[in-house]
Amino acid sequence: MASLVVSGYQEANETLRMPDLRQALYDEGAILMEKVLVNLHGQEHRSRRNIETRVFRRDFFHWYEREVFPVTLRETLAPYLEQGAADLVDFGFRAMMNLTADFSGVDRPLRTPEETARLLTILRTFGKAATLGQALGDKEAIRAEIRAALDEFDMAFFRPSMSRRRRLLDEHAAGRCSEAELPRDVLTELMRHEAEHPLSHDVLMKEIGFFLLAGAFTSIHTLTHAMHEIFVWREQHPQDAARYEEDMLFLQRSIHESMRLHPSSPTAGRRPVCPVHLPGGGAAEPEDVVSVDLMSANRDTGVFGPDAAQYNPHRPAPEGASPYGLSFGMGMHACIGLNLAAGMLPRRDTDAARHQWGTVTLIARDLLRCGARPDPQRPGVVDRSTVRNNWASYPLLLGR
Ligand code: HEM
Repeated sequence: MASLVVSGYQEANETLRMPDLRQALYDEGAILMEKVLVNLHGQEHRSRRNIETRVFRRDFFHWYEREVFPVTLRETLAPYLEQGAADLVDFGFRAMMNLTADFSGVDRPLRTPEETARLLTILRTFGKAATLGQALGDKEAIRAEIRAALDEFDMAFFRPSMSRRRRLLDEHAAGRCSEAELPRDVLTELMRHEAEHPLSHDVLMKEIGFFLLAGAFTSIHTLTHAMHEIFVWREQHPQDAARYEEDMLFLQRSIHESMRLHPSSPTAGRRPVCPVHLPGGGAAEPEDVVSVDLMSANRDTGVFGPDAAQYNPHRPAPEGASPYGLSFGMGMHACIGLNLAAGMLPRRDTDAARHQWGTVTLIARDLLRCGARPDPQRPGVVDRSTVRNNWASYPLLLGR
């Protein structure tokens, strides 16, 4: 078995679009990930993705960003504002988990901090499935922990969420409930299409658990990196400080720039389903693993300029590439939540009053408006136990 690494931007881009390469990053996390969307291939993947994509429509984001999200965000931010301080990682977990739960279809009927904390603990344990491949320590013990978290998720959150949707779908079928009264989330869509795409209870429960994980974990770390880059730039370039709060297009561009430098997964992993030729030259066999180095591809000086490894919110839009590089993947597994998290790319004629910003920019805007700044007494701590260099904690002060 050979391990082949692809690292240039163009080669990485083309490799991710190859239909004969299947997912290989989550083999060790099979206990949660085996039959979830990101691990499927071919027709099975297409058919499930087509159903789930219905939730992620543009008109919906527009409404969601204006009507639903501000309320959730205000609710989550309020206790921290009262204290005048927050840990950005902890706040990010709460904000993003509540948001992703809305989209996934996980009800939190009590809306209490205890309920959020319970779901957060479950989610953090699910997170171990995605990184089980790199885990040191006793993997069987970690699997047992994940199994217990799955049981708790199933009984406490998934079954009640499913029962409520079953009732509503029955009412809808009987003409007693309108389309607008149905929840708009992945679970509802999968349940309404169960005749054409049947899923066992176990697979459906894991799919929804995976959605929570895919949406929340990535966005949390993205938010923390982006805020850190903003704080450092603001300190070194005081002339831009006010712009972060007044110019939303500038803020969104600076978030995309940070997304490019800090992809939530530094690599994508693929395995050929048949012998293939890779775009950069070289061949791969079904027993080989192809590792696409997203971190290097996103710092390709030929695409992003000679200072590609640096954060520069004034970077001109790259030719033939997204400003966030390959951080949301490419090809069949490209992130389904891209528009939700990153918003639309602005064009020359973009009207800021109607633009869709993405949740990371919206949260950053609210934090900056609340006077968020690093706590000088307690600097943030980077988690060095993985190659991801995510922040383990990031204490903030709030209020002017
Ligand atoms: C900053 C935030 C996010 C980042 C950086 C991110 C990144 C990614 C990447 C790199 C992939 C491709 C994985 C691969 O090629 O193997 C992916 C796939 C996926 N993402 Fe995201 N994601 C983000 C937010 C979200 C959100 C908010 C959701 C859902 C609410 C979501 C749901 C998914 C799903 C379901 C897939 C699998 C798609 C498929 O296999 O067809 N992501 N994401």
